[in-house]
Amino acid sequence: MSTTPPRASHASLVDFGRRHVTKGIGRQVEAVIEKGEGSYLTLGDGRKMLDFTCGIAVTNLGHCHPKVSAAAAEQCLKLVHGQCSIGFHEPYLQLIERLLPMMPHPSLDSFYFISSGSEAVEAAIKIARGVTGKQNIITMQGAYHGRTYGAMAVTKSKTGYSESFHPLMPGVFTAPFPFWHHFSLPPNTPTSELTSLCLNQLELLLQQQTAPKDTAAIIIEPVIGEGGYVPAPPEFLQGLREICDRENILLIIDEVQSGFLRTGKNFAVEYSGVKPDIMLVAKGLANGFPLSGVITRSELSDKLKPGSMGGTYAGNAVACAAAVATADAFKEENILENVNARSKELFAHLEPLRSTPAVLDIRGQGLMVAVEFASPTGTSPHDPLRNPNVPAKLSTRIAKRCQEKGMFILTTSAYEVVRFIPALNITAEDLKKGCDIFVESVEEIVKEG
Ligand SMILES: Cc1ncc(COP(=O)(O)O)c(C=O)c1O
Repeated sequence: MSTTPPRASHASLVDFGRRHVTKGIGRQVEAVIEKGEGSYLTLGDGRKMLDFTCGIAVTNLGHCHPKVSAAAAEQCLKLVHGQCSIGFHEPYLQLIERLLPMMPHPSLDSFYFISSGSEAVEAAIKIARGVTGKQNIITMQGAYHGRTYGAMAVTKSKTGYSESFHPLMPGVFTAPFPFWHHFSLPPNTPTSELTSLCLNQLELLLQQQTAPKDTAAIIIEPVIGEGGYVPAPPEFLQGLREICDRENILLIIDEVQSGFLRTGKNFAVEYSGVKPDIMLVAKGLANGFPLSGVITRSELSDKLKPGSMGGTYAGNAVACAAAVATADAFKEENILENVNARSKELFAHLEPLRSTPAVLDIRGQGLMVAVEFASPTGTSPHDPLRNPNVPAKLSTRIAKRCQEKGMFILTTSAYEVVRFIPALNITAEDLKKGCDIFVESVEEIVKEG
């Protein structure tokens, strides 16, 4: 006689989850995710969903990549927890070996692994303050850096992340980011115009609000992620580098979402040729295992006192082993080639939408791409880009319709933006399938009004 208890029904599991999982978490779907395989997720109600979210840009090699899962399983039987303050462990060192040749600049040679992107942001703020002896941090309008207190303080994409949780970490100043919509300018505004506007404002910020001698660092995503999938123009990043060099300010490049081949380069900052002083990675680093990294040059990290960094789970051995296998698979499976080939196809699939009056912009790099829709209300009655002739809430309605048709896709930012973050090894067939679902959903929702 079997002693296995009967399995709870999917409906009862969802009901249990609804009652006992914190209301602080929002969800796309009221279902249990049972299985992940490549570009697909299977839900407990039997639905097989095409996943264009990659768990928010994490499972870059698809769900449960066989080599990554096998490396983690093998490591589980050897050493799970090799605490970083007790000694080194091999996967940690192997991972550094794999990452060194991928760095956007050879000066980035000192690694500190932790678990989440927010934790990496917190550590970068600490390091910047510690090594410069200065306190203030400049962040960008529209930036997202996480939900912990320091990370939340430098997050400026939506008030929803910090609303009712103030006061935040002091010493944070916000500079404008070259995104046309922030200035109510049309989408075809030349990036050179936006760049000089923003660099000029940053210079003013340093004269009017936070003096260079009080400013430890500027933190920026090379592609603003939760702020709308807007790549920073290379000349803007180059301008930041010049200002940082001139004023002895550190440049922190947050590649948590844009890193690891996502934009068609190893790291998005490579489009500008700019050297980060500190670079942050997470998400795609370990293809789903919780791991993040703060990477800097030894000259800076040598100034840190032993014990000032660390963490119980920092650089977990299983996560590091998964990251080593991820880095190997990037090379062995020619992932970068696939990203660039699929990226061209993605833009080609979306191109016909440009003539739809409801579509404001199609933008991005590699497989980090977004479609921005117009809105009848804009962000406020003062937004001159609002368009009373288009339906309301297009991005969320389109994402929901895609879901009804069997695909997960995410919105982003305070604007009407839908973002594409498929697996970097997605096939041409699955990419086309997802784009067809999206285009069909746009047409239906626009028609419904
Ligand atoms: C650019 C960027 N930085 C930091 C974070 C925070 O990472 P985590 O959610 O792992 O704390 C995110 C998360 O989306 C991100 O996109």
